This record gives sequence, C-alpha cells and structure tokens, in this order.
Amino acid sequence: MPDAEDFHPLRVAAARRIALDIHRFDLVHPDGAALPPFTAGAHVKVRTPNGLVRRYSLCSDPADLSACAIAVKREEGGQGGSVALCDGLREGDLLPCTAPRNDFPLKGRPVSRVFIAGGIGITPIMSMIRELEGGGGPPWKLWYLTRSPAHTAFAEELAAYRGKVVVHHDGGDPDRAFDLWPVLEQPKGRHLHCCGPRGLMQAVRDMTGHWPASAVHFEDFGGAAKPRPEDLPFRLRLARSGGGVDVPAGTTMLDALRAAGHAPASSCETGTCGTCRTGLLSGAADHRDLVLMEHEKAGWIMPCVSRAAPGCDELVLDL
Ligand code: FES
Repeated sequence: MPDAEDFHPLRVAAARRIALDIHRFDLVHPDGAALPPFTAGAHVKVRTPNGLVRRYSLCSDPADLSACAIAVKREEGGQGGSVALCDGLREGDLLPCTAPRNDFPLKGRPVSRVFIAGGIGITPIMSMIRELEGGGGPPWKLWYLTRSPAHTAFAEELAAYRGKVVVHHDGGDPDRAFDLWPVLEQPKGRHLHCCGPRGLMQAVRDMTGHWPASAVHFEDFGGAAKPRPEDLPFRLRLARSGGGVDVPAGTTMLDALRAAGHAPASSCETGTCGTCRTGLLSGAADHRDLVLMEHEKAGWIMPCVSRAAPGCDELVLDL
C-alpha cells in the first residue's frame, strides 16, 4: 500500500449529484485491480482539478474493494476545491488520491451504536452503517440532521433501514434544531459517533460530558485548524527538555513544536482524535478540541487546535 501522503490516480467510474449541493464520485483502480483495504470511518486525501488537497471520508462499503466512493459538498464560498471537483470532475477522469487512513474508527464492543450526522457529515457514517449491516456488529440507530429533503444525501438508501434512522430537517432555522438531549441523556452502554458542522459537534460534546470518554467519537470535516483573527502570539516553555518555543498568531502550537523538533504524535489535527494529547503544567489554555472532558482541561491540552487563552503569554508543557 502506498504511503498515506503518496497520491495515486483512481478513475472516476461514476459522477452524480445525490443532493442539492452534494456530488458523489465512485472511484476504481485504473487497471481494474482491487483497491487498498480500509475500515469504516476512513478518509482519503484527493488533489482537486485546481491543485488543492482536500480530505473526504469514504462512504462506500469497506467489504467491497472493487470500488470506493466519496461525496463532496459544493462549497461556493470556499477556496474552490469542492467547486472544482463538483463542476469539473467527470466520469473517466483520473483523480489523484492517497491511501485510506482512519481517524474515526468503530471502536469497542458497545451494547449498541448511536450515530449523529449533520449534513455532509453523513459520509463516514454511511460506510459504518454498511459495515454493520454486513453482519457481526451491534444494533445501531442514526439521527441525521439536514436543512431540507433536497439537501439530504443517501435519503433513499437510508429509508430502507426502517426504525433505525431518524431524519430531521430544520429549514436552516436554529429554532427548529432537533433536541438531542433525550437521545443522549442516558449513555446505556452505547458508543456515539458524531460528524457534522462544528456547532453540532460542540453541542453534542456538551451533552455527553457524563458519558465515558472512550464512548464518544467525533470527526471534523473542517480539516486542519483554521487561524482566527483574534489569535495572539504566545510562548511555550517545555518543562522536560528545558526549551522554549514561540507560537506566532497564524501558527498552531503543533506546527510551532514541529518546527522546533518537539512535536508530540498527531493524526487528525482537528482536535477530535486525541493523539496529540499533551500535559499542561501551567498557564491558561483556550481549549478548542472535542476530546478533553471538563475535568481534564486543567492538566491537558491538544496542541493541534488549542492555544493560550487571551491574556496568557506562556503555557508550560510536559514535553
Ligand atoms: Fe487529533 Fe490533535 S492530532 S486531536
């Protein structure tokens, strides 16, 4: 299997719109060979026709390696990567892709699985459902929150899973948002996977503070942490190695540590997988991850997304 950052062309076997602003691309090996194996929840990076690199979850069945599929939301106001894919990629074209990698796997042996998907966040969950329906997994139930029926990808397919899928449309009105509290109030030995807009995931995080940390999993579609205009520079002091690292305003802690040769292991770089968890010995942090429980925030930080809180010039790390 190629290295995760090596791009290899896959041929577009089918390209079609599956919701108002969502396009599905079925991809095959150009020589007809089997694709590299993957597990439900995995993603690939693709190089778009306009030269950008974007990450997309696989939504196809991991048991079928004759083809795989991604679904792309056409983001009009983005940097043009999704528009280039949705408007420019045609059947027969070659799309450079990396090997699959999974930061959002189905873990553990829960009593049952709960899925919460917002909009395009349905894609990794489709591959999970396909895997569970293939046999051997625990019962599952999906809450799928979209703007309207026209914005709802995979609606026909999901309609076949009677009693297992709740679809809610809010019409873009926050006052019509689905109340997830009755779903999440009692953990009941379940595991939760949630993927969707950051606001939805933050709300779910807030409602699952009483769940075991190992039972709640998030996937962020937003990609790498984005700098915020209000971000300020600050300094890191590394307690074990004795060094110091400056973190400029537009740079993540992880990138600054990396440049100085001190970075912890990382994976998702979106504050959802927990890999870069680092001991925080002193300083006030602005926690921007979806991993740490409230009681952990005084002693830990996720340097891929979090920073020093406003007014704090220095964080001391256990590095
Ligand atoms: Fe995944 Fe930081 S690398 S939480």
